[in-house]
Amino acid sequence: MSSSYERMNYLTSFGFSLRWRRQFLAGIPATTAPVVVIDLLTGMGETWGAVHRRFPNARLSALDFSEGMLRHARAKSVARYGGRVEVLHQDVLQNHLPSAHFDIVTCAFGLKTFNPEQLARLAQETLRILKPGGRFAFVEVSEPNVVLLRALYGLYLGSVIPVLGRVLLGDPAEYKMLWRYTSAFGHAKAAMAIFQEAGLQAAYTSHFYGCATGFHGVKAVAAVG
Ligand SMILES: C[S@@+](CC[C@H](N)C(=O)[O-])C[C@H]1O[C@@H](n2cnc3c(N)ncnc32)[C@H](O)[C@@H]1O
Repeated sequence: MSSSYERMNYLTSFGFSLRWRRQFLAGIPATTAPVVVIDLLTGMGETWGAVHRRFPNARLSALDFSEGMLRHARAKSVARYGGRVEVLHQDVLQNHLPSAHFDIVTCAFGLKTFNPEQLARLAQETLRILKPGGRFAFVEVSEPNVVLLRALYGLYLGSVIPVLGRVLLGDPAEYKMLWRYTSAFGHAKAAMAIFQEAGLQAAYTSHFYGCATGFHGVKAVAAVG
């Protein structure tokens, strides 16, 4: 779905995906220091703009395992960032990233396809690659708590988006999975608990009545990992 993903995201979320990308980073204090940042499950780099806005002097790396997505990400790195975003083609669950290297780990809309074992691995890797005192933030599309909103959101993501994907962009099957993954994911509390069990301090966040949820936190200075 990489050929249509960014346009689809922008158009069909009515700007919410952009807003949530900014909001989830608010869990990490803004800084003009030259921080070392990695955006995991980066896709085409949809979150890079928000990262640069909050951390203008960041040295940004971006990781994904989809060559289709990364083709666009590399082009964006060259066109908009003078090639300064380092694009890494790796599986985050079996990565070769250095330990205790990053000040900040970010990740938008990548949690929902992971099962609990994979989330535990992701949490361990986040702990490992962060410097002591390093910070992280995750956000994911979620199932709102309010019954009516959940029904409408489910109808929109489960029925309208797949039709729009087919009619406007010619991508049929993949968009059907969005609500299936989202309703299986629920909200980010279970994922956050897995990160806490791994030894990371984390706090829960909810955006627009739970249509997106996430968590942010810190690797304690004395944490092992
Ligand atoms: C829904 S997209 C999110 C993209 C982007 N972060 C955004 O904000 O729109 C999820 C991305 O995670 C990537 N992904 C899923 N599992 C992965 C894994 N194990 N390792 C690396 N990338 C993975 C997919 O290739 C996809 O680009």
